[in-house]
Amino acid sequence: MKVLRTVKEIQEYTKEVKAQGKTIGLVPTMGCLHEGHLTLMRAAREACDIVIASVFVNPTQFGPNEDFDAYPRQFDEDCKKLETVPVDAVFHPEPEEMYPEGFCTYVNVEGEFTHRLCGAQRPIHFRGVATVVTKLMNLARADKAFFGQKDAQQVVVVKRFVEDLNIPVEITMVPIVREPSGLARSSRNRYLSDKEKEAALILSKSLKEGQKAFESGEKNARKIEEIVTAKIKTEPMASIDYVKVYSFPALEPIDTVDDEALLAIAVRIGKTRLIDNVILK
Ligand code: PAJ
Repeated sequence: MKVLRTVKEIQEYTKEVKAQGKTIGLVPTMGCLHEGHLTLMRAAREACDIVIASVFVNPTQFGPNEDFDAYPRQFDEDCKKLETVPVDAVFHPEPEEMYPEGFCTYVNVEGEFTHRLCGAQRPIHFRGVATVVTKLMNLARADKAFFGQKDAQQVVVVKRFVEDLNIPVEITMVPIVREPSGLARSSRNRYLSDKEKEAALILSKSLKEGQKAFESGEKNARKIEEIVTAKIKTEPMASIDYVKVYSFPALEPIDTVDDEALLAIAVRIGKTRLIDNVILK
């Protein structure tokens, strides 16, 4: 597996691959890789000749009071995991390589839906995501890029700017990968103590209750939110950021779930903010 650290290195690599007429699949990550990330890598492996993973904790998507400095970094272990897939190349730049002095261009998706869910608490988050993903797609000369449903709103944002900016990359959304307990895999799970990890099961359990209610005929979006909220409140260690039902993929407010909808939650367990979701259809 090639380790590419600079813009020049990845550009030279992708130029050569393209000259051979091969297709490139890109899987952007912030590292600290787990089975969720590796599932995206395998999907890319299936669909493309060459797979490029990126491991970059992107400073522009973290707010001033968020966990940018504390975000776990373990590049050597990540490489070992990537080699099991296997992935052809990993791009692992320093922040200064991606944002050199004078950098001042951002991709800003302005739809109302970016202010909902995670965008409400994290005002600059999706601007940072859209900017870095645009740069990564350009650098990787990607034909296809792979994202997890775990961050469903992120997928909607990415699809939006790819369409708006006519970027010739096909986006694939991969379902959420969970631990056997039901907990959605996340790099942030490692912040949780054993007790907190147990408490964190309330996320997937509450979503299941919401889904069950929907499948038994409850179509009222507020009622579904209430059912999920009540379940989360049974866990004393949990505090709710949001419990929301929106249309999917438009992410518009709805009163009734007639078509596809996203039931999404963000819950703090101790200091750790976790997200999870399920698509109702
Ligand atoms: P990160 O949180 O590292 O996630 C990288 C990709 O892995 C995202 O597409 C995310 O949705 C997916 N993923 C994470 N956990 C998953 C799970 N349990 N099941 C399925 N997919 C999962 O998301 C980011 O990084 C960043 O915002 C990034 C897109 C790399 C831009 O910086």
